[in-house]
Amino acid sequence: MEIEILTAQSSKSVGVLSLGPTTSVKELKKKIHGLKKSLYPDRQAIRLEPKGKTLKDDDTLKGLGLKNGSKLYVKDLGPQIGWKTVFLAEYAGPLLVYLWMYKRPWLFYGEGATSVPVQYSVHIAAGCWTLHYAKRLLETIFVHRFSHSTMPLFNLFKNCSYYWLFTLYVAYHVNHPLYTSPSLVQVYGGLAVFLLCELGNLSIHIALRNLRPPGTTVRRIPVATSNPLTALFNLVSCPNYTYEFGSWLAFTIMTQCLPAGLFALAGMYQMSVWALGKHRAYKKEFPNYPRSRKAIVPFIL
Ligand SMILES: NC(=O)c1ccc[n+]([C@@H]2O[C@H](COP(=O)([O-])OP(=O)(O)OC[C@H]3O[C@@H](n4cnc5c(N)ncnc54)[C@H](OP(=O)(O)O)[C@@H]3O)[C@@H](O)[C@H]2O)c1
Repeated sequence: MEIEILTAQSSKSVGVLSLGPTTSVKELKKKIHGLKKSLYPDRQAIRLEPKGKTLKDDDTLKGLGLKNGSKLYVKDLGPQIGWKTVFLAEYAGPLLVYLWMYKRPWLFYGEGATSVPVQYSVHIAAGCWTLHYAKRLLETIFVHRFSHSTMPLFNLFKNCSYYWLFTLYVAYHVNHPLYTSPSLVQVYGGLAVFLLCELGNLSIHIALRNLRPPGTTVRRIPVATSNPLTALFNLVSCPNYTYEFGSWLAFTIMTQCLPAGLFALAGMYQMSVWALGKHRAYKKEFPNYPRSRKAIVPFIL
């Protein structure tokens, strides 16, 4: 069958392709790339209507009900960059920036700041920060099985600005020579909760990884495993976000630092928006999805 490809933005013809009914959207993207060299497959979103839903890579022309002479629209998503590259850049920055501030550079604190004794909670906070971002770097490389290989290049600047600038803000205050540590009980209580939440977050990431066979983009209903820290799946759809917020709340209590609290709140806001979206998508995709689950905060949100 002959299918005309038009741009989603201006309905300009890109060309006409001769395709079999079993051709998948993934294969179609490669053919469009043949018509227009700048439109590599990861840069394309294929639609039935200019402003319609993006079709899945494994949809076939027959399954979509297309006939000879039908039209398809291709949206240019703009230059793309690998997911892993973005994640590695956005997590390596906080590690380097925090540890640099930990050394009290004269640029921020002035000459002589290094001679002021460093309080024990400052060392613990640096250890927690390092552990968190080193964990996320390692998870990006060894644990996550992402379904998309790329994202728009703009995200690199957006995500890096968020993480790098917040790190500078938090690190500047916690490592300041005038910073005062809270009580021992508060520091060690916060540390214990922080470590528990980090372990919980890792447990959820491993459970999510095991839902998806290697090399596929399969999605399943996540369920608790034999690891007790994954039991939170019985209450919320995105327990990794719940644990992530728990970590930053604990870090805030441990350091008693307002900028850390603002970072925890900003992260919670963003993760709540994402969790609500993911929760809605689960309910739509899986008719048997457990009704009692919330998105991110057990029994509440
Ligand atoms: N502090 C902050 O502001 C902040 C904000 C966001 C995230 N984070 C941290 O970054 C971590 C990762 O974030 P994320 O947004 O990428 O988490 P996510 O969407 O929950 O995904 C984690 C991984 O699991 C896969 N996955 C999710 N649901 C699945 C399912 N039902 N079946 C099979 N695979 C599934 C995802 O694949 P896909 O590629 O298909 O999605 C991805 O590879 C979070 O857990 C959190 O620790 C921090």
